[in-house]
Amino acid sequence: MPEAVAFQGVSDHSGLYKFSVNESDRFWGAVARQRLSWISPFHTVQNCDFSQGKIKWFEGGKLNVSVNCLDRHVQTCPERVALIWERDEPGTEVKITYRQLLELTCRLGNLLKRQGVRRGDCVTIYMPPCPLAMASMLACARIGAAHNVVFAGFSSEALADRIRDAQSSTVITVNQGVRGGKVVDLKRTVDQAVQNCPTVQQVLVAMRTENTVPMTDRDVPLEEEMMKEDVVCEPVAMDSEDVLFLLYTSGSTGKPKGLVHTQAGYLLYTSLTHRYVFNYHDGDVFGCVADIGWITGHSYIVYGPLCNGGTTVLFESTPVYPNPGRYWEMVERLGINQFYGAPTAIRLLLKYGDEWVQNYNRSSLKTLGSVGEPINTEAWEWYHRVVGDGRCPVVDTWWQTETGGICIAPRPADPEAEIVPGMAMHPFYGIKPALLDTEGEVLSSNDSTGALCISQAWPGMARTIHNHHQRFTETYFHPYPGFFFTGDGAHRSKEGYYQIIGRLDDVINVSGHRLGTAELEDVVNQCPGVAESAAIGYSHDIKGEGVYVFVVLKKAVMVEEDVLAQQLREMVSRSIAKYACPDFIQVVRCLPKTRSGKIMRRVLRKVVERNTDELGDLSTLDDPDSVHEVIRGHRRLL
Ligand code: WTA
Repeated sequence: MPEAVAFQGVSDHSGLYKFSVNESDRFWGAVARQRLSWISPFHTVQNCDFSQGKIKWFEGGKLNVSVNCLDRHVQTCPERVALIWERDEPGTEVKITYRQLLELTCRLGNLLKRQGVRRGDCVTIYMPPCPLAMASMLACARIGAAHNVVFAGFSSEALADRIRDAQSSTVITVNQGVRGGKVVDLKRTVDQAVQNCPTVQQVLVAMRTENTVPMTDRDVPLEEEMMKEDVVCEPVAMDSEDVLFLLYTSGSTGKPKGLVHTQAGYLLYTSLTHRYVFNYHDGDVFGCVADIGWITGHSYIVYGPLCNGGTTVLFESTPVYPNPGRYWEMVERLGINQFYGAPTAIRLLLKYGDEWVQNYNRSSLKTLGSVGEPINTEAWEWYHRVVGDGRCPVVDTWWQTETGGICIAPRPADPEAEIVPGMAMHPFYGIKPALLDTEGEVLSSNDSTGALCISQAWPGMARTIHNHHQRFTETYFHPYPGFFFTGDGAHRSKEGYYQIIGRLDDVINVSGHRLGTAELEDVVNQCPGVAESAAIGYSHDIKGEGVYVFVVLKKAVMVEEDVLAQQLREMVSRSIAKYACPDFIQVVRCLPKTRSGKIMRRVLRKVVERNTDELGDLSTLDDPDSVHEVIRGHRRLL
């Protein structure tokens, strides 16, 4: 229970939850004063208007995020371990204290300034999880620049798109990455990307391996240059609503969008959720195994844990390297207390059997977390029973890049309260969910299913889409006026618990990674023989969803399906990333469309899920034969 608000006369969770949504200003005002160090105090807690997509918190306040994450802990416990870098090779972890992380951050901040980076600029970071990636993020925050971390699995084209949209003049990368025993040429990918990015003036290159890579005049050797810098770097006083970072994510239409998060509200929300959802206490070791390139890494490897003075793990490897016991061997070796991972990894590991878990001592574990996609009951049970020996709460946490931090999760609630497998369950403090039907009516009773919306602002939510505020309001605030629309569907049980069903829009969730069908089709349609295509997600044992693409060839084009499939996979992996590659490609004569020309993905999805008895209303179909052809072709393929 947030200590600062307990005095307001509420002492139980449900009372405090009600207070947080009914007296939102008093709740967040008290928590913000208590948890953050301010350079000057804010005068207004919130100033939000969903109809214009206006979200502002803690106006008038000034602070520096890196000071909140580093300096104030250096004052009280400089030798506490801030981060444990769990390198790819087990047993070679590196521990970095708060004092050391502050020094790295300051040197890097000074180097960025020397290289001409100014307050308000946006620096692109294309690095695997490593201390210098974290220090780069914090160095940007220190000098008032925004960062744009791009997941190091993205291709050079995807990276170039993001650098151009963010208009970065500086990119930070490593010579090579190491993952699962393999070396990945990240600098080479950056070299390819920046060829098409006129704004880029310099690339700072850190050395993750000892191999030399070609360097040009534009490239700056990071470690060498930062060692010349001072270990003191004056933090800039930032306004609460200045940009902290951009993070690109997929939507149902168009190119990935750069969601914008700002300083104070985001930091406060990640700190509070980290503390209470996972029941994190001083001295605990927090192990979130996400990549820093995703929002989970931003919020629960970097900002939440560091703001709380915690010890956070930065995991460079994969769940199966060198064997499927990797996570649990690491839990034992590092003494991890809270483990936060993705259902796709849990589903993969449970197939290898219980011994890989039982071989290691997991008595340090207190809470297990899950994020990124719905966790099926089998995976939940195994996580709870085998990994947690039946004694650790499993918290299924629902949230999004847009929400900044966890919005629905089983805790905090009465610690004795039951946790239902596969349910995110309860809204966090300050979050007021609503389910709406297709008419836009609020479903007020329990045991109902609808579009998941949130009816009032919270400090962690995204503020806009970089350079596209209209797209921001249209995507999130227009579908259900007065509400923030999440894009997900949810069920509220008889008991009032929330269960997330999945996306309602054309976003596919592959191993917890978001992928827009439009983005994918755009690549497939660039293949010379392809006239048009439709991409859909289908349910996949391990990945959650896999990608299935229907393709219509141009007239007179003859090509073997396998050859085409190979070609399309290469194109997708070059333009987006490997995880986006289709598992199945089916050539069809035409796609089922409505008379107004819209592709009926709903029908295609049913065919692929073999629910051909439930195709629904086909009366709007332009050419009913197209469906039968799709069904025949699908049978042949499987
Ligand atoms: C899905 C990841 C069910 C959901 C933090 C959401 C989930 C999208 C869960 C956001 C969960 C995330 N149960 N579905 N616990 N967590 N999702 O932006 O569809 O990468 O909209 O953020 O993942 O993905 P994003």
